[in-house]
Amino acid sequence: MSGRIEGLGERPVVTITFGGRQLAAFEGDTVAMALWADAQVALRQSSRNGAPRGVFCNMGICYECLVIVDGVTVRGCTTLVRDGMVVERGGKP
Ligand code: FES
Repeated sequence: MSGRIEGLGERPVVTITFGGRQLAAFEGDTVAMALWADAQVALRQSSRNGAPRGVFCNMGICYECLVIVDGVTVRGCTTLVRDGMVVERGGKP
């Protein structure tokens, strides 16, 4: 698994889909951190100027990490991965 520190945690691995591609993530990770571990840092585009946006506060305050999970817009930094979830870039604040 790319981006992970070898031997960090012994948590079960789940599979999520992001942009049509399957990724492995540790159970208990947030969506934002699972995507970050896969070098996916641009989670949406600014509705104002189209600039890429991603994790900023990582604690549920700024809404920069909005993604669409199974059709629902959520904050990636406060949503835990679940096996089989489908994640897409997007979401407008
Ligand atoms: S990074 Fe700020 S709400 Fe998620």
